[in-house]
Amino acid sequence: MRILITGAGGNLGRAAVPALERDGHELRLFDFRSLPTEHEFVQGDVRDPVAVARAVAGVDAVVHGAALHGVHLATWPPSDFWSTNATGTFVVYEAARAAGVRRIVLASSMVVYGPVGGDGDRWAVVTEQSPFRPNDVYGLTKVVAEDVARFYADVDAVSTVALRLGMFVPETFERYGFRLLFGGVDDRDVGQAVALALAHEPIGGFRAFNIMADSGLTTEDLSGLDADVLDTLDRRWVGTSELVREHGLDPGELVWGRLLFSVDEAKTQLGYRPRYDFAAFLDAWRRGDATHYPFADEDWWGVERPAR
Ligand SMILES: NC(=O)c1ccc[n+]([C@@H]2O[C@H](COP(=O)([O-])OP(=O)(O)OC[C@H]3O[C@@H](n4cnc5c(N)ncnc54)[C@H](O)[C@@H]3O)[C@@H](O)[C@H]2O)c1
Repeated sequence: MRILITGAGGNLGRAAVPALERDGHELRLFDFRSLPTEHEFVQGDVRDPVAVARAVAGVDAVVHGAALHGVHLATWPPSDFWSTNATGTFVVYEAARAAGVRRIVLASSMVVYGPVGGDGDRWAVVTEQSPFRPNDVYGLTKVVAEDVARFYADVDAVSTVALRLGMFVPETFERYGFRLLFGGVDDRDVGQAVALALAHEPIGGFRAFNIMADSGLTTEDLSGLDADVLDTLDRRWVGTSELVREHGLDPGELVWGRLLFSVDEAKTQLGYRPRYDFAAFLDAWRRGDATHYPFADEDWWGVERPAR
């Protein structure tokens, strides 16, 4: 397929481009920053209908990733989140409809769920049926983006697979490993999910899937996590707390969020087979093999807010 990737200069582009290249797709990249790339590149703003119309012309599918996200909350005002993520998504769908593009993979996010249930300090499992309770403007705009997608599926037969992605911004090696338990995902599994989503025909024109690492933790582990997180991990992966101590790490820095995410639907419906999990990380950590996660500490701070 001929595929447009919006916001291709960020983490999603880094994850998706190699996966789609491997599948033999022809890629066109779009971003408002200039990108060094061998692929066809269109520079423009996702809020600009003329630029986006130019970008979608002649493609078979769009991977829509351009957005502000969590890290930008501190530096960008809510109105920029709305214009980039909500209006920008509308502009992409409208351009796709007008150009006859019928297939979109939408980069949604785990933030649509917010801190689910709001049930104090207790751990919970999040499935695709969990309610949307975003608690910041980023989450709100991601909910709106999914609504836009559903609308275009219903009314204009533009189909969408929305990937509610877990965290894959660059992290230290150890924080990367532990977040694979609690909503993190490896770049290479994100790439796999994007490739699978492009090949999927969603029933009714719209489907959303959680895309995280397969943590191996389930509802049966919830009471153990409530009582003692490290103890629960030790019972499943012997020696975990010893490694944490040996490295002088603060467990509070490694575990946060109190949510487990189910990826069962992505596994059964999309054929998603996440390969990078906590066990693989522990194994690499024990061997001192930092190449297991080559993106650690990458100099990534998101898009800087332009001076006005
Ligand atoms: N990285 C994560 O942990 C994560 C987790 C969940 C969801 N997501 C979603 O994945 C998508 C991509 O995230 P990312 O981590 O690659 O972000 P990123 O900030 O690394 O990259 C976003 C890219 O979009 C471009 N961009 C921003 N505003 C634009 C605009 N107005 N017009 C054109 N291009 C614009 C930026 O230049 C940048 O290259 C987003 O939709 C995000 O919500 C990311």
